[in-house]
Amino acid sequence: MKSIVAVGFILSLSILAACAGSIPVPAEHHDRWAALAWPGTTHADLIEGRRLYIENCSGCHGLKSPMDYTENQWKENVSEMRQRAKIKEADSQLILKYLITAAQKSDRLDTAAMTN
Ligand code: HEC
Repeated sequence: MKSIVAVGFILSLSILAACAGSIPVPAEHHDRWAALAWPGTTHADLIEGRRLYIENCSGCHGLKSPMDYTENQWKENVSEMRQRAKIKEADSQLILKYLITAAQKSDRLDTAAMTN
């Protein structure tokens, strides 16, 4: 009985870890990339975009990982889902910036970091 509880506990921990990992927290290389893509964009903007994404986009379906779609697909998805989620245009822009930034492959992020 004890081992079943232990296995359940370990399983739920790994599920939690998997969820958190798929919605990455913006790091320094994300900040640099976003500031090049949209001058004036700050770390706080990306953090807010992530928060708005988690808060507004998880009600009807699971959160998709930013890596699941390309930049153009995210633009389409977010403009469509903005109506379903009934969020302001400004908030959807922050969500979009976060998703597009987090969707960049790490080599692209590193190149942006080096040229900065
Ligand atoms: C009111 C419910 C609802 C909310 C809120 C919602 N969605 Fe959706 N979403 C759906 C439904 C239903 C589908 C599947 C049907 C479709 O594609 O229209 C979907 C599909 C998607 C897809 C897959 C599209 C594809 O073709 O692969 C993505 C990506 C997505 N949503 C992102 C988001 C984002 C980002 C937000 C927050 C801005 C969001 N959703 C909020 C209902 C919702």
